[in-house]
Amino acid sequence: MAARRLSGVRNFEDARSAARRQLPQAIFDYVDGGAEDEVTLGWNTQGFRDLSFEPRGGTWIAAPDLRTTVLGLDLSMPVLTAPCGGMRLVHPDGDIGIAAAAAKAGIAHVATSASGFSLEEIARTPGPQWFQAYRFSNQEAMKTLIRRAAAAGYDGLVATIDTSVAGNREKDFRNGFSYNMRINPTNIARMAPKMITRPGWVSRFVRDGMPFQLPNTADLTVDGKPMELTEMTRVGTDSHSPSWEDIAWMRANWPGPLIVKGILGVADAERARQLGVDGIIVSNHGGRQLDGSPATISVLPRIAEAVGDDVTVLLDSGIRRGSDVVKAVALGAKAVLVGRHPAWGLAVAGEAGVGHTLEILRTEMIRTMRLLGCPSVGHLDPTWVTEKPLGRPATARH
Ligand SMILES: Cc1cc2nc3c(=O)[nH]c(=O)nc-3n(C[C@H](O)[C@H](O)[C@H](O)COP(=O)(O)O)c2cc1C
Repeated sequence: MAARRLSGVRNFEDARSAARRQLPQAIFDYVDGGAEDEVTLGWNTQGFRDLSFEPRGGTWIAAPDLRTTVLGLDLSMPVLTAPCGGMRLVHPDGDIGIAAAAAKAGIAHVATSASGFSLEEIARTPGPQWFQAYRFSNQEAMKTLIRRAAAAGYDGLVATIDTSVAGNREKDFRNGFSYNMRINPTNIARMAPKMITRPGWVSRFVRDGMPFQLPNTADLTVDGKPMELTEMTRVGTDSHSPSWEDIAWMRANWPGPLIVKGILGVADAERARQLGVDGIIVSNHGGRQLDGSPATISVLPRIAEAVGDDVTVLLDSGIRRGSDVVKAVALGAKAVLVGRHPAWGLAVAGEAGVGHTLEILRTEMIRTMRLLGCPSVGHLDPTWVTEKPLGRPATARH
């Protein structure tokens, strides 16, 4: 069944459509949607479409070399799977399926704090992995998770700084979707009409024990009491994201690579560099947080230039094609992270689906590099990309 569903999936849009057929509307919208008017979500993809290539014709490249090393990790291509909460709602394979597919593809996974499996369970999946920390409105809770992540053997720590409060994702409000949704008769009656059209998803979800909880928060306390899941999305008490002071604490207490995610300007990049972080991720959270934040590809060149060789620069938000990865690497990213791309594969066919979408990205990258006449990702630099395409502006899609 899963193999048949994957057979028609040749690109991101195919995977998105196939995922839409599998998922209840509320889950599809949760993954697909952005904040408010989804302006940034549209800019993310438009930003890549606004860049054209300058190929070196007449060059035969038999097998371009996509391998790279990111903060000590050898990757088969310059791609990591991004930290994404709620993935066990998408498919029971969830975070473990994504991590396993990433490992089989020879790349690394970034495990989210908001995972459907505990961080220890995910860490047991073979392959390189980083752990992404939230503050959960509670500094001690964050420190506990980071100590657990160190004990579990994660290879790096990612601090996401763009989530002081959850973004205003109006589709989620309309759909009544939240992490702390309770499985009770009222909610079942409310959701049932929409679920009934997705019997495959419903049966997988029920067999998986209807896992709406976030295991990483199970043992955490707030004011001496067990931490409610509502702490995750509570607004106004304290930041959900680590502060710069927290990042200084992480630097002093985390022995391995430390990466700050959510950088969109030179000033924050400089601040991260001064605190001694090893890497930054130029990210607007896939257009899910501050609507109106810029397309990441548009701010990448000046950030990469500002930090130079001191800090490893990564990028995410809007990667839909292998050619987008090539553009990002050409403009200064060592590698990219992909969020929705593997999430759609997961929805269609669990771990196998993630593997399928990662291989789509790889195949597209290889063909792009051959058409460019570029022998390896190490040869990519800004001379391969020109600022604006000649011709009509493309239409924004996401
Ligand atoms: C469903 C979903 C959940 C996410 N959850 C998290 C999270 O828990 N922590 C985090 O740092 N980023 C999270 N993100 C953002 C991703 O890590 C990444 O920045 C974004 O997906 C990249 O954009 P793309 O989806 O266009 O590839 C999430 C993104 C999605 C789509």
